Amino acid sequence: MTTATPRHKIVDGIPCFSEDRYWGKAPKEELEKALAVIQEQGWDEFRRRYKDAFDATFEENRADWRFPIPLSRDSVVLDAGAGMGRSSIPLARVVGKVVAVDPSFLRMKFLKLRAEKEGLKNIDVYVGDLFDVPFEKGSFDLIVMNGLLEWIGATDKYTEPREAQLAALRLAKDLLKDGGHLYIGIENRAAFAYLYALDHSGLRFTSYLPRPMADWYCRLRKGARYDTYTYTARGYRKLLSEAGFGAADFYLVYPGYNCPRITIPYGDLNLLAYVIRRLMPQNSWRRRLASRLAGVRPLLVLYRSIFFSFNIIAKK
Ligand SMILES: C[S@@+](CC[C@H](N)C(=O)[O-])C[C@H]1O[C@@H](n2cnc3c(N)ncnc32)[C@H](O)[C@@H]1O
Repeated sequence: MTTATPRHKIVDGIPCFSEDRYWGKAPKEELEKALAVIQEQGWDEFRRRYKDAFDATFEENRADWRFPIPLSRDSVVLDAGAGMGRSSIPLARVVGKVVAVDPSFLRMKFLKLRAEKEGLKNIDVYVGDLFDVPFEKGSFDLIVMNGLLEWIGATDKYTEPREAQLAALRLAKDLLKDGGHLYIGIENRAAFAYLYALDHSGLRFTSYLPRPMADWYCRLRKGARYDTYTYTARGYRKLLSEAGFGAADFYLVYPGYNCPRITIPYGDLNLLAYVIRRLMPQNSWRRRLASRLAGVRPLLVLYRSIFFSFNIIAKK
């Protein structure tokens, strides 16, 4: 199934295929301290002290995007860019094996501890850049890229971010068994939310700009290139097709791909209209207005084009 090169080192029981690259919303030292708290004072203390400090979650519904994918106790899953295990933990409860890979050593250490706490013996963790981890072709039934593809361009292995993303998708296709699935959870480049929220670049409006202009702006403001590319649904379809995947299923996911509470097939505008109406408080002017607007098809199409994020499921 999976193989390791003889050249990797093992730190705290974790095979490391790349140099540690810390990643996270809190400083590295904070996570180091938190790991010490887990080991010395236990999980209750960790949860009390570090509520919302990292993107760890104890909610089990974060991999609910998995329902359209046939998974069983025989399935082998690669969680690429696994982070703190948002997907790995719930998946490990329903599949045979989860292989979690992330270049951030502390995140993998956290996930290893978390798997031990949950009594999940079927999660293998590796420190590694997706491009460096030597798995055999055709090893996996499912590859998970939840919040990964947009960060893949931040590498010196490829000069063009899109080339890096394409290479990652081609690699994923090679690593999948025939008939296996790739899941991608990611933002929409044209999301309305980017009018008021920061783009992945840490700056405003960069996803809306033409790439060369966004690049110029990032270099001016941050002294670094723009490499966190997101796309519209059409852009993702093109990328997947260039990587050799056939038709992919797209879903609109509410409130966002990281928390898939409501999942609407991209083509189902009637269901989108229904959800818009139902999300508004009963007997309110907001529901009456939403009902009116959701009845106008061009407005629904416009709303879909600025929806926050997508779940994408492609089959090899
Ligand atoms: C937004 S976080 C998502 C984490 C996790 N998938 C989740 O859903 O919570 C992005 C993760 O991708 C990892 N990452 C970034 N570049 C990577 C690469 N080239 N190969 C593998 N993982 C990478 C980061 O270390 C980080 O943990």
